[in-house]
Amino acid sequence: MTALGSNVKVLVVGAGAMGSGIAQVAAVAGHTVYLYDTRAEAADKGRAGIVAALDKLAAKGRISAEAAQAAAGRVLPVSELAAARDAGLAVEAIVEDLAVKRALFAELEGLLADDAILASNTSSLSITALAAPLARPERVAGLHFFNPAPVMKLVEVVSGLATDQKVAATLHATARAWGKVAVHARSTPGFIVNRVARPYYAEALRVLGEGAADVATLDAVLREGCGFPMGPFELMDLIGHDVNFAVTSSVFDAYFQDKRFTPSLIQQELVLAGRLGRKSGRGFYDYAEGAERAQP
Ligand code: NAI
Repeated sequence: MTALGSNVKVLVVGAGAMGSGIAQVAAVAGHTVYLYDTRAEAADKGRAGIVAALDKLAAKGRISAEAAQAAAGRVLPVSELAAARDAGLAVEAIVEDLAVKRALFAELEGLLADDAILASNTSSLSITALAAPLARPERVAGLHFFNPAPVMKLVEVVSGLATDQKVAATLHATARAWGKVAVHARSTPGFIVNRVARPYYAEALRVLGEGAADVATLDAVLREGCGFPMGPFELMDLIGHDVNFAVTSSVFDAYFQDKRFTPSLIQQELVLAGRLGRKSGRGFYDYAEGAERAQP
């Protein structure tokens, strides 16, 4: 199966951490990318972040200055979805909530051409359930990037019950053309990475709750002793506790409240306090300018 040509326009919905990263990847690969967010200014801020990231890559010599400028010029923030009606691929990276994502997919189905592919960057929600209410569920699939999307190589291409295998194959080939390592997965709760990683976070949070060591020590142990590039607490701070807690809750519910996936009260407290991690300036660590990496 061949990848989508770079002449195919891409719509990225949600200009947060993941949407901005995905938009950058697609723009560097040559696509015109529409970037849309319901939050005022988010798409413009997302584009500014992409421009800064591309400038940094150019300064480091990883990409030429001309290529960086050209890619930045292909990212077009839009204030209405209707402005992106000629997109041939939509990738949503909005809040991890089935009802909200379903409403968006219904809108996209009415807006985009019949042969446009509708993809979700969901970490855990059922692709089958996302697609079910649509008239053409066969063109829906998961296209699950990892954080930060421009850096992390892996992409899970996720098929729901109705997904046309030609659509999954096209997304797989497209992710590869974008420089990623793509794998196919059936839609099961959390797919592969987020299924297997849940007990990693959960056990680290339990060890913390038992008072075995502080977060910095536990992170250092997992990094230095087990070869993880990041410890579990700094990784959760990067992912965002709102996102990570929603993913754990979704996997827990989808597995009929299997105790192995029980969400953590410690993490729930952070979410309730608005300490969402790096994006809010504080999570397990304090990211304020000049702050020690203090614990909460
Ligand atoms: P985020 O909170 O950084 O960004 C989400 C953005 O979506 C926000 O800017 C918000 O204003 C916007 N949004 C919310 N509802 C919207 C709607 N109806 N229409 C348009 N925009 C809307 O979240 P993040 O981290 O980028 O996550 C987005 C998705 O990606 C979630 O499904 C998450 O599970 C998934 N994901 C997250 C990863 C992570 O490490 N944070 C990794 C892989 C997937």
